[in-house]
Amino acid sequence: MRSLLSMADLSGPDLDSLLKRARRLKRKIKSHEETVSLRGKVVGLLFEKPSTRTRTSFEVATIRLGGHSLYLSANELQLSRGEPVKDTARILGDYLDAIVARVYSQDVVNQLAEFSGVSTINALSDMEHPTQIVADLLTINEAKGRLKGLKIAYIGDGDNVCNSLLLGASIAGMNISVGCPPNYRPNEQILKRAVELARSSGSIVEVVTDPAEAAGGADVLYTDVWVSMGEEAEKERRLTAFRDYQINSKLLEAAKSDVSVMHCLPAHRGMEITEEVLEGPHSIVWLQGENKLYGAAAVLDWLVGKR
Ligand code: CP
Ligand code: NVA
Repeated sequence: MRSLLSMADLSGPDLDSLLKRARRLKRKIKSHEETVSLRGKVVGLLFEKPSTRTRTSFEVATIRLGGHSLYLSANELQLSRGEPVKDTARILGDYLDAIVARVYSQDVVNQLAEFSGVSTINALSDMEHPTQIVADLLTINEAKGRLKGLKIAYIGDGDNVCNSLLLGASIAGMNISVGCPPNYRPNEQILKRAVELARSSGSIVEVVTDPAEAAGGADVLYTDVWVSMGEEAEKERRLTAFRDYQINSKLLEAAKSDVSVMHCLPAHRGMEITEEVLEGPHSIVWLQGENKLYGAAAVLDWLVGKR
């Protein structure tokens, strides 16, 4: 039983085949061709935090592939009254064919996978956001025609999205440079793993404090929110720490002239990205958002679909 708990769960060939699957499903879904690989399957979405894209894309992808989805808000489950995760997981595993979970702690999604016995998909935790990166790599490949050898610069908080991007870029053979304040570096264990993966794929991983240095010669610039879900109490401190880590037209000058700009969304205009750049000619953010549907479809088809 395979799950997608971390981007590091994917080998290079897994990632290639997942992206191929996403391209095939994108063609089929866009042309309204009937797809039935999830017929008779029930996918449960257990969410502890809000979501627009991830929730909707997984629900719609399940329907488009012929299955049924069920949204389970964690605060309406007995989990919210202290029922252990492992007990919840055992029961959900009896009823469902797969669990898509958005949680505060990575440990919760790991336990859901361990105790449910069904494929479990990390739809964002404090540590990672792997399904986001599947859609992002699909998008970069569409925009640039390849992944290997490109340079992506991630500017801002070394958060869950940054961690998964480090792993995903390294698996795909992309060079990645993270520009973040010293106190907001990516997870050190993940960084170490990314460096190992990059060694085998022949790419380079670096973390620097100067955003312009990170952005230098980049093919892709990527950012995420400065205040992630659950960090609201740190808002003021974070707004100060990230003040110089904005994707704006000045930063674009450091990158390649045909740089593509990405943001996993939701965006905060005037904070991590300017309105001008988000809505400007370099932005591939809306394609990136659209591609979450096809990334979700590929992940479900791969893990749950009938062969
Ligand atoms: N990018 C992303 O995960 O968006 P949602 O929070 O809307 O799911
Ligand atoms: N880092 C952000 C990503 C939102 C999709 C968060 O965790 O809130």
